[in-house]
Amino acid sequence: MEKKLTTSLSEADLKLIEAAKQAALTAYAPYSQFHVGAAVLLSDGRIVKGSNQENKAYGSCVCAERVALLYATANYATTPPVSIAICAMQNNTYMVQPVTPCGECRQVLMEMQTRFQTPIRVVMYGTEHSLVATDASLLLPASF
Ligand code: THU
Repeated sequence: MEKKLTTSLSEADLKLIEAAKQAALTAYAPYSQFHVGAAVLLSDGRIVKGSNQENKAYGSCVCAERVALLYATANYATTPPVSIAICAMQNNTYMVQPVTPCGECRQVLMEMQTRFQTPIRVVMYGTEHSLVATDASLLLPASF
């Protein structure tokens, strides 16, 4: 599969976005009020969801992407993640622009791609348009 950034969504992307939207409803974000949902599709078709989980000690907050990705590998250790959809809500409204993962989550995505030798498609949802990276390495050039 060609590595590229695109705005076109597949049927599978749309289904994964719906799961990410459900996940955003479970966010615990009393400090930022930024409710993020992530859904990870595994190679066996299973979908694993995560949402951001905040803490009074801000450094202990965990992003939705890492909650979903790390739950997936902790529970299905031999099943590669193949794509992830990310969305976020503020004041009960989805973000207009695509929600992109933070640097730490990009590093975790890269580790998983390398570990499973399988590219991870990253679907970043926005109501106006979404952005898709067909390979997580596009989001972290010259990575460690
Ligand atoms: N957050 C995520 O969960 N994913 C992102 O891609 C961006 C940021 C969370 C972390 C924190 O709980 C809140 O959003 C504000 O940064």
